Amino acid sequence: MSGPGQLVARGKVRDVYAAGDDALLLVATDRLSAFDVVLPDPIPDKGRVLTALSLYWFERTADLVGNHLLSADRAAFPAPFGDEPSLAGRAMLVRRAEVVPLECVARGYLAGSGWSQYAGSGSVCGVELPGGLVESGRLPEPIFTPTTKAAEGHDVPVTPHEAIDIVGRGLFERLKELTLGIYERIASTAAGRGVIVADTKFEFGFAAGDLLLVDEVGTPDSSRFWPAESYEPGRAQPSFDKQYVRDWLDTSGWDREPPPPSLPPDVVAGTAARYVEAYERVTGGSFVEHLSAVGVARAPQRAAALDAASLDRIRKERA
Ligand SMILES: Nc1ncnc2c1ncn2[C@@H]1O[C@H](COP(=O)(O)OP(=O)(O)OP(=O)(O)O)[C@@H](O)[C@H]1O
Ligand SMILES: [Mg+2]
Repeated sequence: MSGPGQLVARGKVRDVYAAGDDALLLVATDRLSAFDVVLPDPIPDKGRVLTALSLYWFERTADLVGNHLLSADRAAFPAPFGDEPSLAGRAMLVRRAEVVPLECVARGYLAGSGWSQYAGSGSVCGVELPGGLVESGRLPEPIFTPTTKAAEGHDVPVTPHEAIDIVGRGLFERLKELTLGIYERIASTAAGRGVIVADTKFEFGFAAGDLLLVDEVGTPDSSRFWPAESYEPGRAQPSFDKQYVRDWLDTSGWDREPPPPSLPPDVVAGTAARYVEAYERVTGGSFVEHLSAVGVARAPQRAAALDAASLDRIRKERA
């Protein structure tokens, strides 16, 4: 059992702390991973964008499924976390759950690994699709294509049969229904704001017998967001996420093996701007106003380095 305040996990993006036996503090840092490697430069306020979007969607899906959120208000965080300004807007106190070992992916369009699988076999994760679909094409209806949650390395796609072997038929059917229902809610809300949610990933977990939506929801790290106005099936789409950084990395000559190169300031700023744009397009709200509402009021460019140093200090003290 982990003591109060102790670091229990460090993912590529998030630091997770124990907050009593039944709760965790999930801290979304400004780290960015590309090709499964964490880049050396923080993206200003990226963690705050992820947190703000997750909160937005938790509120708007709570009628479909309960979720793990207890509070995103710093005043409610257990000591000493409430006193750390670097956590404002980027941490969530959540119910600690036994996470279901499947990443629950919903796809409404054919992109990324879904498109590669379809191009090779005509199916995605064992789900047969009609012939003649094109890259980035809209599917006749959204499909559920879970993957395993790999502790290391890439998540592995599984067929429905394999997924049923992992979680049992009853839970598989429930996860499928919830995943498609939440995806439909998110995709239709975003569509009204000119954003296509091509696909997205959810995680679920059990706490005291309740099946809950956990982790992050409807963020650029867990979803593909495309601007609707430039959507054109038959080719890859520009997106509001890491594609911009990936494209820069591809032209930099990096071989995708650690260590990754440092990003030029304009690429850092361009990436940060895309995350903020994703937030503003999807929610229709101003990110600056959001920041001041959650108690963050300063120019992000310089503050990203201060936040990163503060988050590192907190992590090292509690490891
Ligand atoms: N309510 C919860 N209870 C327990 N664990 C949770 C809860 N919500 C999220 N998690 C877990 O917390 C971790 C969040 O960390 P993060 O997303 O940075 O890392 P990761 O997904 O494990 O690895 P990476 O993203 O680096 O591939 C995930 O493992 C996620 O499954
Ligand atoms: Mg994750």
